[in-house]
Amino acid sequence: MKILGIETSCDETSVAILDDNRIAANRIYTQEIHSEYGGVVPEIASRAHIQKVDRLCAAVLNEAAVTVEELDLIAVTDSPGLAGALLVGMGFAMGLSRGFGISVTGVNHLEGHIASVTLEDPVPAFPFIALVVSGGHTALYVVEDFGRCRSLGMTIDDAAGEAFDKVGKLLGFRYPAGRSIEEEARRCPPDLEPIPFPVAKIRGEGYNFSFSGLKTAVKYHLSRKPDNYTTSNRPLICRSFQQAVVQSLMTNAIAASRDTGINRIALVGGVACNGAIRHALRRHFGDTVFFPSPKLCTDNAAMIAKAGLERRLRDHIRPPRLDPSGAL
Ligand code: KG4
Ligand code: ZN
Repeated sequence: MKILGIETSCDETSVAILDDNRIAANRIYTQEIHSEYGGVVPEIASRAHIQKVDRLCAAVLNEAAVTVEELDLIAVTDSPGLAGALLVGMGFAMGLSRGFGISVTGVNHLEGHIASVTLEDPVPAFPFIALVVSGGHTALYVVEDFGRCRSLGMTIDDAAGEAFDKVGKLLGFRYPAGRSIEEEARRCPPDLEPIPFPVAKIRGEGYNFSFSGLKTAVKYHLSRKPDNYTTSNRPLICRSFQQAVVQSLMTNAIAASRDTGINRIALVGGVACNGAIRHALRRHFGDTVFFPSPKLCTDNAAMIAKAGLERRLRDHIRPPRLDPSGAL
């Protein structure tokens, strides 16, 4: 089965072709322009998607040596994300669908991130726990099957990636700052005592996260120091902040695994590129932790095509329906 995936929910325009479970092409265009503004500007994102989506589509068809007529399905992200940005991908997908008589399905972006861990070996058996950590989301799910998830908890304020980006801004890094923070943290001498940034404990039931207090703690810490403090202590600040994020993610992941009795855990989403988080999970869960390769962690259309494939196999095709805040 040949599936065209389309992803335009935020600041990556991506189009991919999946040939059954094999990625035949997966092109990603990252809209660098947002770094000038310190974050994603929705109107600019929509316009940039319009300029790229058709060219990327032509490029992947060419790369995969597939014609539009040979496609069995189009899968497009329709939720959650920026409304205008989502509409560009949806409009393009529905135009192709109508014009060429190809069926089309809407896909939830988080459903796509979870599906990304099944594109490469080893694939976790169901049920597994998914820790979805991205710029817009931080959540834990029990995944019973494709399209069958139970939410265990999520962030009550900022997403982990958002915290990386906001702290990065305080430290003078360009948006998105996750990777720069990780690289800077690696420059910190291992024997330096970390700055004790607080790891939020959420009251009540469940496995919720909170990262806005951590960002404020970094801001407060910097505000009490002399001007040159940040420049000379950046690696230590980055490592201490990253460690606090790792601890928060680990606490909930370990509790969720213990309480559900499920030891298979998948780390997905852009923040899943982070080596310190991967290392901590690997150390605790050993072989039962699963990560997609970095190109499949950040936003990409191969994961959307994969979610579409699984919908098709289960007869769960649904018309795309714009839902900017759509939960899984
Ligand atoms: O999944 P994604 O591409 O987009 C959303 O759906 O949000 O995730 C982007 C996020 C950004 O916040 C970025 O800073 C973060 O992933 N990120 C990282 C790393 N690489 C990307 N965060 C921490 N460490 C990294 N190596
Ligand atoms: Zn994402």
